[in-house]
Amino acid sequence: MRSSEHNPPRTLRSALLTLICIPTLLAYAPLSDSSLRRIPSGAPDLDAQTGALLAPLLIPRVPGTPGSEAAQRHFAGFFAALPRWRLEWQNSSSRTPATGDALVPFANLVFARDPPWARAGDVGRLTLVAHYDSLYEPEGFVGAVDSAAPCAMLMHVARSIDAALTRKWEAMEADGEAGLGLEEERGVQVVFMDGEEAWHKWSEEDSLYGARAMAESWETELYPAASTYRTRLESIDLFLLLDLLGGPDPTVPSYFPETHWAYRGMAKVEERMRKLGVLTTKPKSGVFLIDGDKEQVQRRAGNVGYVMDDHVPFLRRGVDVLHIIPGPFPPVWHSMRDDGDHLDRDAVDDWARIVAGFTAEWMELDEFMVGEKEERLEIRSREEL
Ligand SMILES: *[C@@H]1O[C@H](CO)[C@@H](O)[C@H](O)[C@H]1NC(C)=O
Ligand SMILES: [Zn+2]
Repeated sequence: MRSSEHNPPRTLRSALLTLICIPTLLAYAPLSDSSLRRIPSGAPDLDAQTGALLAPLLIPRVPGTPGSEAAQRHFAGFFAALPRWRLEWQNSSSRTPATGDALVPFANLVFARDPPWARAGDVGRLTLVAHYDSLYEPEGFVGAVDSAAPCAMLMHVARSIDAALTRKWEAMEADGEAGLGLEEERGVQVVFMDGEEAWHKWSEEDSLYGARAMAESWETELYPAASTYRTRLESIDLFLLLDLLGGPDPTVPSYFPETHWAYRGMAKVEERMRKLGVLTTKPKSGVFLIDGDKEQVQRRAGNVGYVMDDHVPFLRRGVDVLHIIPGPFPPVWHSMRDDGDHLDRDAVDDWARIVAGFTAEWMELDEFMVGEKEERLEIRSREEL
């Protein structure tokens, strides 16, 4: 990601959508303390050298190269063990300024879970995004914070909520609540985006290859006429983008007044987890999500604009975005020092837990987050039946 741009005027349509959506979005209840405590740590799988989720990603992942394919296999293999998540590829190809006439393939991977009874066009989805490609140059660059670590965090988030999602939807079906349409159907999808980086120098054409292709494709993917949502793009409830996370002492401001309420939601989760003693880091500013009130956010948006990243093609089409990226960027950004040795293992794990907590809260999983001990009991009682 690079530079910044001023907020484009939002279309009337998206402004109206925002107004209409507010009542449902505010309806979500905070997770209880006991559920927050049950959000599992991702360690040791998030260790840079030995972690099953992270270590395999710390290789060069330039689009169209064997490293990129290895990363794709890593995601697909991980989710194969969580079979309720449906894999969908969103592929495209493009020339780049570094590769001449040859077409470079870009492959976005989407892993999604919808309520089992719901029709695809009726589901609004929390959309968790990180890019998995790494810079073409310098050669050998592995992009640990950019964005191997955020990808590994999202894998941990998915496995942390998987069983609770199943329990919640089974309970709804058992209680006859499924498909009543009392509120929107709520789903979740994890997107591993390709081709975020520029190959030569950041520009509109040389950057965001995967995200541009996906936003264009999803904008034209129409649902049947009677659906809640018109297009795949409109069914994104929130585009939650993680980037440059995993270094020591990050501070992440709020970038968009429109989604400051969601930022506040995540900041609250972080604050409560720290109070409960479930996070490990002791950041200099006390917290990662440094907040600021809505006026500050508005002023910031007016003055500095926002960071260019995978959300831009979606934002320009009226999608609500929560961008979790440190400002200022980590000092290792786009240098060879952005490797496993410069990650802060505790920060990686704390982010994984904060985002998992936020996701569990968004998906209203409070009653369904079961601790390991209860889970063992549950299995035993099922076996005894
Ligand atoms: C998309 O590209 C990937 C990686 O090259 C490939 O494995 C996959 O089969 C492709 N999928 C589709 C639907 O084209
Ligand atoms: Zn980058």
